[in-house]
Amino acid sequence: MTTTPNQIVQLRAAGVCVVYDLGAPAARVLHWGPDLGPLDQAGLTSLSRTQDAAVLNNAPDTPRTFSLLPTEYETWAGTPALAGHLAGTRTTPRPRMTDHSVETGADGGSLTVVLRDSVAPLEIEVFHRLTAAGLLETYLTVRRLAEGTAADAIPYDLTSVLSLLPLPGRTNEILDFSGKWGREREPQRRPLVDGTQSRQVRRGKPGHDSPYLMLAGTRGFGFRNGEVWASHVAWSGNQHWIAERLPEGAGVLRTVLGGGELLGPGEVRLRPGERYEAPRVIHTWSDAGMDGIADRFHTALRARARHPSSPRPLVLNTWEAAYFDHDLDRLLDLADRAAQIGVERVVLDDGWFGARRDATAGLGDWTVSAGAWPDGLHPFVDRIRRHGMQFGLWFEPEMVNLDSDLARAHPDWLLAPSAGLGPSARNQYVLNIAHPHAWSYLYERISALVAEYGIDFIKWDHNRDLLEAVWRHPDGDRPAVRDQTLALYRLIDALRKEHPALEIESCSGGGGRMDLGIIERTDRVWPSDCNDPVERQAIQQWTSLLLPPELVASHVGAPESHTTHRVAATGFRLVTSLFAHAGIEWDLTRCTTEELRALRDWATLYREVRDLIHGGRSVHADLDDPAVALHGVVAPDSSRALYAWVRYATSGAGQSGRVQLPGIEPAGTYRVRVRHEIGAGSRHQSAGPGWFEAAYAGGVILSGAVLAIAGVPLPTLNPEQAILLDVQRT
Ligand code: DGJ
Repeated sequence: MTTTPNQIVQLRAAGVCVVYDLGAPAARVLHWGPDLGPLDQAGLTSLSRTQDAAVLNNAPDTPRTFSLLPTEYETWAGTPALAGHLAGTRTTPRPRMTDHSVETGADGGSLTVVLRDSVAPLEIEVFHRLTAAGLLETYLTVRRLAEGTAADAIPYDLTSVLSLLPLPGRTNEILDFSGKWGREREPQRRPLVDGTQSRQVRRGKPGHDSPYLMLAGTRGFGFRNGEVWASHVAWSGNQHWIAERLPEGAGVLRTVLGGGELLGPGEVRLRPGERYEAPRVIHTWSDAGMDGIADRFHTALRARARHPSSPRPLVLNTWEAAYFDHDLDRLLDLADRAAQIGVERVVLDDGWFGARRDATAGLGDWTVSAGAWPDGLHPFVDRIRRHGMQFGLWFEPEMVNLDSDLARAHPDWLLAPSAGLGPSARNQYVLNIAHPHAWSYLYERISALVAEYGIDFIKWDHNRDLLEAVWRHPDGDRPAVRDQTLALYRLIDALRKEHPALEIESCSGGGGRMDLGIIERTDRVWPSDCNDPVERQAIQQWTSLLLPPELVASHVGAPESHTTHRVAATGFRLVTSLFAHAGIEWDLTRCTTEELRALRDWATLYREVRDLIHGGRSVHADLDDPAVALHGVVAPDSSRALYAWVRYATSGAGQSGRVQLPGIEPAGTYRVRVRHEIGAGSRHQSAGPGWFEAAYAGGVILSGAVLAIAGVPLPTLNPEQAILLDVQRT
């Protein structure tokens, strides 16, 4: 089959190029990856002439194709992009393009393709937009049409709608994530083999084991090298992610990457006129390794109108300092000490409301506890304001303890089957916030508290999975995760509309809900409850593939971690928290004078460097030795960079050898200083290297080419130590 070149559409931005063939019956992607440049007539003709695969032995008699909505009709034998049925019939969709439009703009432009299924009464709209940062945002909408027959009375059960894109055969490894509470973003890297690598998220939220970002790359791809393709499902409910390869490939391409929402049985039943809007799925590519992928996401996030633009305030959160012990004098003391250190926002965590003296009761009763707080939160909030700090408050709106006034008054608001409640988790159950009265109750209570106390920031928690999440109904219980997710979005959107200055953190037990759907409506994430710097370095490194440091909280905890009980040096903890939206999660009343001094110096440094950290490019060196890491943030114009040189454990190697500082401009000249005011990093050596001693003593001038290309020898630190290098162009 040949196609005339003018049926080819090319979207290009920031070195990424996606080429579509609109001559194919259901349109298809001819190329997704490096920029082919503006294709002239010869280029278009060449692409057209090379778009068909061979006809293989013992196979369909026409070349197999892979369309924008791949189906069996076009011989795609892998996971279909569209699946559903009409009372068990019409299960073999044959979508055909009926219309399309192309928009060009300041970014890479967009393409809308409208398809009509000739089997089921469906119209599908596929919308692709290539952003200026090179992210391909995809949206699919499925609309049920009326046929004017008896079938109109039968709902069409939509079972799956996925955004799937083909990529070339030179990808041979995939990387995604798993994890558990306290150790989120655990990378899983494996060879790309034939078959479907499917990740199904059924927790009603992405979860601590969220796939997070699915990457397929050339062999050995690293932070700074290799070609990498990546997909992300921007949705806070159940999700389906796949990387798939069939022996026969996908058209002339080889592997398929993508995903969408995981729908429950009967969760979406379309009647004529009704539509299903699939969540946004984002795809991107880079030939600069995983840092290149991260750079595209960070650039796109920072270009949003509501991206946090004010300096990210230094936070003190009360959780690990006080837990449920809401003693006013103790908390006032904490606030006073926080102010002396330079904290700019104090957040009161769990325990301020209803009968919530521990985790067993009161959840859902969003009224200040008269017992714990006889004068309301005012004495505490007033003190915080007097210090010129902002005030934040913890909520867990979607959850409820059975031992609460709310559960007693409205048992019908619980999200649970008619057969009865399943097991509790953390003593709690889930509230059906799609229930209009439950939703209104939450909106009114939260909004009233925000207004009464002038709350600047909400820590929005969500500690348990949604299991058996069905809406009880006289005709039978119905799957409810989608409704719950949409109700959550509506709730946050309404609160933000009513209180435009309010900032929100997506916490979810630390790291349980960190997708770009929730990021659209929140200002940062709490990526883990683990403040142990050894664990946290890894969590932050992998979190940074999607989210820039200003959206990722990191708090300095007590010397002995509350989650791992590892004791870590102050300097290591401080360096770790600096590369984020920094804060403190430590009982300051127990700090030594030396520790308080270190915290003050760190707070001063944070204020000095936060513009750089929150606006620069995140970079990571590819090092052979897993016992060490070098990562940093480089200003967009490469005029300044801050690096952390980290050692987790001892190594066989005595020396680091020359280590490249990624992102430095080779043509520049730089002054390098060790910022030891927050920790000198104890060393496993007697002295040197010489240049480092000079950098430690006040600064040393080095050429950009040496720093970035030749690399510099770094000191051998003792295990669980980190030092900070400040590199400024002269
Ligand atoms: C889980 C969060 O991750 C913690 O930071 C803390 O807010 C607790 N919940 C409070 O219950």
